[in-house]
Amino acid sequence: MSQSYIQNSQSATLPLPKKVTIYEVGPRDGLQNEKAIIPTDTKIDFINRLSQTGLEFIEATAFVSPKWVPQMADHEQIMDGIKRHENVCYPVLVPNIKGFERACSYNPSHIAVFAAASETFSQKNINASIDESLKRFDDVCRQAINKGIKVRGYVSCIAGCPYEGDVDPGKVAYVAKALFDSGCYEVSLGDTIGVGTPISIAKVIQAVRNLCEDCTLALHCHDTYGTALVNIMEGLRHGISIIDASVAGLGGCPYAPGASGNVASEDVVYLMHKMGIETGIDLISLLDVANFISQQLNRDLMSKAGRALQNQQ
Ligand code: HMG
Ligand code: MG
Repeated sequence: MSQSYIQNSQSATLPLPKKVTIYEVGPRDGLQNEKAIIPTDTKIDFINRLSQTGLEFIEATAFVSPKWVPQMADHEQIMDGIKRHENVCYPVLVPNIKGFERACSYNPSHIAVFAAASETFSQKNINASIDESLKRFDDVCRQAINKGIKVRGYVSCIAGCPYEGDVDPGKVAYVAKALFDSGCYEVSLGDTIGVGTPISIAKVIQAVRNLCEDCTLALHCHDTYGTALVNIMEGLRHGISIIDASVAGLGGCPYAPGASGNVASEDVVYLMHKMGIETGIDLISLLDVANFISQQLNRDLMSKAGRALQNQQ
């Protein structure tokens, strides 16, 4: 056993939570990277079906520039068209005040701002340095909180950057702290390109907790190398109980070359239920939605648990 494993395994871990909240990002992160433009009606149908599964959070779309992410250009029609379920929140991504003002027409209860721990990724993704973006998001947070809107913060590239390689956990903590200081109620730690391991994820969580005591963290794992579920387990052992996932494992960021989809929601739900952890989600209904969106995109269902459960039906 290597010395580094022995050192890292000594970090304090917590009992597993009794309940995990799945924050569904399929309609936003899942679809933003699709090459073919997906009909707005299909997206609306997708969100409406997800709303029937027991999910509490469905990130519906992104009020970003259509020039930067054409797939999200129909954000207004999406928010107009979806049937809102009373127990579901439909957060939307907001990159700046312009996006915030447009999103406000749809009375969002939650929005999400998205920063990064890598300078190059920040420039490529939102055309701003990290500090410029934090200033921009501080303005958005202030206005949102004044209106009673809850703001989630994202930090991308927590375990590695497609342009810069390794990322300092201290930088992740710096960005997370700035987002909490701006008033974010939770910060989601994004392994944008899926290069994290349980060891690196643990280091990042500890670095953030050292700077931001008693903060609410979520974990957002892309599954490029098949490590998302083990990383999520490490997150649970470090007190994280909000897990971002994308039904059918869709996803990727147009400005993160090489990144694959998010961890599949049905794989996470299957694992949680098998361990006796509640999610409030009906796995079979979720699987139906995974099949629906896979068919719409003309591809086979990618998730492991999804395929296995389907074969049993
Ligand atoms: P910019 O070019 O610097 O913006 O882009 P600008 O202010 O100079 O405006 C340029 C044009 O865009 C103008 O239009 C604006 O009106 C328009 P023009 O005058 O040329 O006709 N514009 C907008 N239009 C609609 N909505 C807006 C908006 N803002 C400006 N909100 C900007 C800066 C931030 C806008 C751009 O870079 C952008 O939209 N980036 C979004 C990129 C993105 O969505 N990436 C994917 C999401 S992040 C992610 O996936 C990671 C995550 O999943 C976590 C993880 O995995 O790590 C969250
Ligand atoms: Mg993502």
